[in-house]
Amino acid sequence: MSTELIKTGSPIKVTPLKSKIAVTGSIESLVPYPPGKPIEELERELGITGSIKLASNENPLGPSKKAVSAIERALTTLHRYPDGSNFYLKERLSEVLSIEPGALIFGNGSNEIIELLFRTFCEKGSEIVMGEPSFAVYPIISQASGAVAIKVPLDADFRHDLNAMAEAITDKTRIVFIANPNNPTGTIVEAGAFDSFMSRVPDNVIVVMDEAYAEFVSSSEYPQSIEYVRAGAPVVVLRTFSKVYGLAGLRVGYGVANPELVGYMDRVRQPFNVNALAQAAALGALNDEEHLRATIGNNKTGYDYLTGELVNLGLAVVPSEANFFMVKVGDGKRVYTELLKTGVIVRPMASYGLGEYIRVTVGTPKENERFIEMLKQVIN
Ligand SMILES: Cc1ncc(COP(=O)(O)O)c(C=O)c1O
Repeated sequence: MSTELIKTGSPIKVTPLKSKIAVTGSIESLVPYPPGKPIEELERELGITGSIKLASNENPLGPSKKAVSAIERALTTLHRYPDGSNFYLKERLSEVLSIEPGALIFGNGSNEIIELLFRTFCEKGSEIVMGEPSFAVYPIISQASGAVAIKVPLDADFRHDLNAMAEAITDKTRIVFIANPNNPTGTIVEAGAFDSFMSRVPDNVIVVMDEAYAEFVSSSEYPQSIEYVRAGAPVVVLRTFSKVYGLAGLRVGYGVANPELVGYMDRVRQPFNVNALAQAAALGALNDEEHLRATIGNNKTGYDYLTGELVNLGLAVVPSEANFFMVKVGDGKRVYTELLKTGVIVRPMASYGLGEYIRVTVGTPKENERFIEMLKQVIN
């Protein structure tokens, strides 16, 4: 053993496997979620600085100061494992949401809860009904777990077609996913349509209302999905600290569901799935009303400004209830690439089958102005 504890040196290439190792189910043909490059790498490659990221629906105002202070206070206890029961966060959230603590489950991002739902309630061949396009993670985890993704096209206004989704349910259906607002379209399912849909769903099917962007919604028609949980329906409501609370980098989200369903998922989840800093920060952010108000206010002002400017440019915007929206720009890939060269990062929609669109996250006023200025250059 070397006397140096921390070594440095060049990376050594790993020899390719000499024999074929079997992978489970349909993993071989699975196309992974495309990870973005770190901004610093992108800037180095393009030879630019000061780029802005309007691509991942994050909070442009940053994390809440209360969350940051809570993290600072938690730093000195990092040698301890986190609280596996998320005790304080659960207690506080149960007050905020007016629901018993046993109806709450936390995850390493709400993504982990999506995965837990599959691992707990699905088996090979289970059918999972979802919108198309919708959140890219649903079909990826379906395929990874050997379940079958039943993709139901959105309607002409880019909303979930709940009639068609109800018709797609069979004896094999275990879960229906409704992203509300939907990603990437920003559209919502309204309460009346949701109530009729629920009356058609067999009571052995779990309906997941993925409400990652719920706090941004201003429509009075937004369904009160937690009411369904309180009333004993197999509805699982997913929320996250990644968006309005500005804590995407920490990875913490939660599910609201019947305590019986939470109990099953608790058997499957890792005991320390939410790290200590994430728990402390989430608790801090939950109590920071000023940050929440500022974030929602910034989003409203920015959305109105951006969509107003885009419509003035003659571009069609898909009306959104979230902190992002889709806009039809013609050749979305070209516009994305040209904007990238100017240091403005948006999301092209070709991988969602919407090649004429880009998806734009609402930024700070300065970022929004820069996006509009650069877009004008790119489309002219
Ligand atoms: C609809 C939807 N659900 C869930 C998530 C996952 O959020 P997280 O895992 O960060 O909580 C996202 C993230 O973009 C999303 O758009």
